[in-house]
Amino acid sequence: MIEIRDLTKIYKLSNKRKIELKTKDTHKVAVNEVSLTARPGEIYGLLGPNGAGKTTTLRCVATLLKPTKGSISVCGFDTVKNGKEVRNKIGFLTNEIKLDPNFSPDYMFDFFGGLHGIDPETLAGRKEVLFEKFGINEFRNKKIEEFSTGMKQKAGIAVSLVHDPEVIIFDEPTNGLDIITARVVTDFLKELRDSGKTIIVSTHIMSEAEKLCDRIGLIIDGKKVVEGTLPEILAGEQAEDLEDAFFKVYKRTTQGND
Ligand SMILES: Nc1ncnc2c1ncn2[C@@H]1O[C@H](COP(=O)(O)OP(=O)(O)OP(=O)(O)O)[C@@H](O)[C@H]1O
Ligand SMILES: [Mg+2]
Repeated sequence: MIEIRDLTKIYKLSNKRKIELKTKDTHKVAVNEVSLTARPGEIYGLLGPNGAGKTTTLRCVATLLKPTKGSISVCGFDTVKNGKEVRNKIGFLTNEIKLDPNFSPDYMFDFFGGLHGIDPETLAGRKEVLFEKFGINEFRNKKIEEFSTGMKQKAGIAVSLVHDPEVIIFDEPTNGLDIITARVVTDFLKELRDSGKTIIVSTHIMSEAEKLCDRIGLIIDGKKVVEGTLPEILAGEQAEDLEDAFFKVYKRTTQGND
């Protein structure tokens, strides 16, 4: 279970970022009073356009960022007070975390397995299953620096699941994957969901959210603007599909009469 309560994250902007964003503002509110709950046996989808605050939210859940305001609990542990316990419960994947380019997937899997204190037999069994599932065997002993985006993503997914975590936090899990591999990943996430794991993913791909997620939270400019199952959202917005619903909400929200 993941419980996010009134999460606000404000970044202090460096001079470089002020220039990049063409702003004189000293701070950026990336996440603005977001509350949500992701339960065991469900895939919660955080959907939103670029810069909406998806990665920031997930990094706070994964204990990599400290909330400016609000609180997050994962399996009953507070992400600030009980960071270590939270990190043991979660598998976190983001394209900003780079696997060490000098090592192979085989080595990285064993290394992280060791950090989590997994016994060698269990680790070897899990490695065979995951490497087979994601087609990693053919490059399991090659250096990560030689990999394509998709190969890195596959290796990253396998390594993030080394300790069979109860809670899975995947930031744009199908990023850079071809449709065949993307399907392997989404089917696997559904299997994990059906085995009772709590899963939260971010995406800006409407069709992926439609097919994969049991509930969807739409975030725009740091705020959660709509939440529900796909049928609930479509009925609420009188929309034909999620893209249609998104544009209706987007128009309403950015015109400021929400
Ligand atoms: N370290 C940082 N310092 C300052 N501002 C940041 C920092 N990281 C992110 N931001 C800003 O916070 C906002 C939210 O960014 P975030 O990466 O969470 O969005 P996102 O929804 O994951 O977007 P994308 O779909 O592009 O991955 C953006 O305006 C971004 O420019
Ligand atoms: Mg992001």
